[in-house]
Amino acid sequence: MKGVILAGGLGTRLYPLTKITNKHLLPIYDRPMIYYPIEALVKAGITDIMIVTGGKKSGDFLSLLGNGSDFGLKHLNYTYQKGEGGIAEALGLCKHWVGDDSVCVVLGDNIIEWNIARAVRNFEEQGQGAKIMLHEVHDPERFGVAELHGDKVVSIEEKPKSPRSNKAVIGIYLYDRRVFDVIRTLEPSDRGELEITDVNNWYITDGSMTYEVLEGWWTDAGTFDSLLKASQLVAQGGANKTS
Ligand code: G1P
Repeated sequence: MKGVILAGGLGTRLYPLTKITNKHLLPIYDRPMIYYPIEALVKAGITDIMIVTGGKKSGDFLSLLGNGSDFGLKHLNYTYQKGEGGIAEALGLCKHWVGDDSVCVVLGDNIIEWNIARAVRNFEEQGQGAKIMLHEVHDPERFGVAELHGDKVVSIEEKPKSPRSNKAVIGIYLYDRRVFDVIRTLEPSDRGELEITDVNNWYITDGSMTYEVLEGWWTDAGTFDSLLKASQLVAQGGANKTS
């Protein structure tokens, strides 16, 4: 399985912190933000990793990470997303690199307490389709929100005004190789982006989407409050832990 980390965007919600650098290079407690998603993949046994960056200071990723030796890697792959075309567009840039493999996609500002090795194993046993991870939140209108019927996800709504549940879809997704065909069919949303939620809803309609409820804490780090919270959570006990 390949791993893709999305680390582009302009980070406008963190302005002026992001006036001269990329959001994913900002500190979370004692390390740059991008370290956490790389560690999340490596701890799940995924060592073939592509970083999609963009916007400002994209060259700094290479200076910071090199070939990934801080993570025990021999090589890292990089690509560049022009503009703000959305998560699904950024993933689409990795089509040729992923080839016929399956892929684990991690949003570069998502940080988790416990590593995702078991979810990755479960997806490998599933063999095809997709898997998302859910987490209960008190502010679901900030996220993609899943509606569940029993053990099935029946829909996902992106940033709903009246959320149907408090289960946010976190920014770690597992897909089979069909994901790139799905991305080709997408139209930009009202915010002008190719939405990962549209990809996920395609797999729901296909009947091949599964989900897991993530244990422990999860946070994004794209706003001042969540950036601070992420540092506090990591300082209290670390991220990507092995149980
Ligand atoms: C994105 C996704 C959303 C998901 C969230 C997780 O939101 O669109 O579905 O719940 O990441 O961090 P964005 O960061 O674009 O607001």
